[in-house]
Amino acid sequence: MTEKDFILKNIDTTNPEKGSFTWKSPSNIALVKYWGKSEPQIPKNPSISFTLNNCHTITTLEYSKKNTPAKEYSVEVIFEGEVKEDFKPKIIKFFKRVEIYIPFITEFDFVIKTENSFPHSSGIASSASGMSALALCLMSIEKELNPTIAENYFNQKASFLARLGSGSAARSIEGELVVWGEHKNISNSSNLYGVKFPYPIHKNFENYQDTILLVDKGEKQVSSTVGHKLMIDHPFAEQRFIQANENIEKLSKILQNGDLSAFVNLVESEALSLHSMMMTSNPYFILMKPNTLKIIEKIWEYRKKTASDICFTLDAGANVHVLFPKREKEKINSFIKNELIVFCQNNQYICDDAGFGAMKLE
Ligand code: PMV
Repeated sequence: MTEKDFILKNIDTTNPEKGSFTWKSPSNIALVKYWGKSEPQIPKNPSISFTLNNCHTITTLEYSKKNTPAKEYSVEVIFEGEVKEDFKPKIIKFFKRVEIYIPFITEFDFVIKTENSFPHSSGIASSASGMSALALCLMSIEKELNPTIAENYFNQKASFLARLGSGSAARSIEGELVVWGEHKNISNSSNLYGVKFPYPIHKNFENYQDTILLVDKGEKQVSSTVGHKLMIDHPFAEQRFIQANENIEKLSKILQNGDLSAFVNLVESEALSLHSMMMTSNPYFILMKPNTLKIIEKIWEYRKKTASDICFTLDAGANVHVLFPKREKEKINSFIKNELIVFCQNNQYICDDAGFGAMKLE
């Protein structure tokens, strides 16, 4: 598939006049990280993530035909019941990017009503779940205009559109593991959209658990948009992109053969590699907090003491994702409660697990 294949053509938009669609779309957590891109949202290296279950966005998109045709976008954003003028510029930017693929967006007045299952200022990025939910609603309108589109095309184009809103959103349409970015040994992988990990997954990774420890809920000092840009001219960028490609290859094998200790090693190394890119860019920055490091030390100690397969990963922030196989759930939950939540802001954490992707709500 190329970009051209996603352009909607020759559709009669006299119908429908109005309607609404609601989608629930999850967040995801990358195991091999995406950091660095070129225009338009093309990743510098492939990434792979677990789709989450409990951390999600629910978005309703109401649409009605404009009374008088106008080229400007007409959109209102309501977040958790409140009109949000400050969310609009991001949506308008997204609309500009996707208009060529879904030209009908200039023909409707839109109201976007959206809410997250996780606290807004939790430090959990809502861009993946938010942009994928919106892209799916737009695809539902496309399907209304063109009912013959196949499910596979629907999902691919939803991921393609979501990617133009936020790169990692491309990985939030399906589950449980999604690859985004071309890799020579992942069949059908693409820079344009996410694909389900195409090989059989070992049972060790079924229902994998992710408990998110909310270490710091404040605004990030450096946005991921700025972070991605700092990979241009980064002294270690080329080596990092090679490493990520190699790690995709290794992880693909691990996911099939069930080697948990290799998984632990690779996933933690990826998290620290991501943060080391931040620390070695110019300007340099650190998103981890002292408590992030305390949690990491505790996890390492616990793993040494108990031979557990627990490990951590990090997003572009201070929160820690604690990953572990389902069979260890009880023991690790007690460990988290007894020893880790003291390092969380207001003792807050979210229990999640690998999920199966977005769902349309009636
Ligand atoms: O989707 P963005 O532009 O917010 O970038 C996300 C980057 C990381 O979360 C740090 C890594 C990833 O692959 O999700």
